[in-house]
Amino acid sequence: MDDKEFIGRTALVTGGSRGIGRAICQRLARSGARVAINYVTNKSAAEETQRLVAGENGVSEIYCADVGDPKQTSDMFDSIETDLGTVDLLVTNAGIARSADSVSMSFEIWREIMRTNLDGTFHQVWRAKDGMIEHGYGRIVCISSVLGLVPNQISPERLIAYGTSKSAVIGFVRNCAVAFGPRVRVNGVAPGWIDTEMTEDVSEDARRRLIDATPLKRVGKTAEIAELVHFLLSDKSSFTTGQTHVSSGGLGTLP
Ligand SMILES: NC(=O)c1ccc[n+]([C@@H]2O[C@H](COP(=O)([O-])OP(=O)(O)OC[C@H]3O[C@@H](n4cnc5c(N)ncnc54)[C@H](OP(=O)(O)O)[C@@H]3O)[C@@H](O)[C@H]2O)c1
Repeated sequence: MDDKEFIGRTALVTGGSRGIGRAICQRLARSGARVAINYVTNKSAAEETQRLVAGENGVSEIYCADVGDPKQTSDMFDSIETDLGTVDLLVTNAGIARSADSVSMSFEIWREIMRTNLDGTFHQVWRAKDGMIEHGYGRIVCISSVLGLVPNQISPERLIAYGTSKSAVIGFVRNCAVAFGPRVRVNGVAPGWIDTEMTEDVSEDARRRLIDATPLKRVGKTAEIAELVHFLLSDKSSFTTGQTHVSSGGLGTLP
């Protein structure tokens, strides 16, 4: 169980171009995995991730696909299988957030969120599972959010669709763990506030209140989430499946 555990394995990290996904790509490359870096619009960011992976002596390829589209997702897996081999390690990280109060929240916003965060998670796992079961090895980590467990306390109402999509991902993880065991393990990670482009528009006031409410009195780093994802993919967590692990500095999960 050394830190080169993933030599010979292929990892797909969706939303690997930026933020948390980029840190996960770097962490898995450091453990020897061949990394498929997915993005949807931001090719130059994906290329920057690839440069960082190369800096870890890692092998990677870049794939453009909208995870909300089943055909694009399936075609991406076809390309990865040709270039890098069957996906052994899947991190469903691609996600979007939209802030809207209960007046401005529309069905269109609801669908947009669900399409990427929930339908997208389904498309990825469904396309990956058969190869994993056939090969007798598979590890999946689905990124949800602490807001999938507790509603947003700082700006109540504004993230209803987002929080609901992430709750559903937690339920999906449980069901898939039962369905795909014993050779395929499925777990989740529920981050609290992590400094990325997703959170950069949040007001200074909301940021301060959030840090005040966090027992560890800070926001999280992408590398801290990547470390937990790595643990759940690795043999170090060999008796763990169906669980979603919170990493939030204690925010939302402690009295
Ligand atoms: N940051 C936080 O505080 C926080 C907290 C809890 C959970 N999370 C979750 O962690 C995950 C990563 O968040 P982040 O903060 O790193 O976000 P981010 O910086 O906004 O990056 C989002 C990533 O997802 C990709 N993406 C978005 N829609 C996509 C689609 N339809 N198909 C394929 N890729 C798509 C983006 O690709 P492009 O670069 O091409 O746009 C980008 O790589 C998300 O699931 C998010 O909900 C984040």
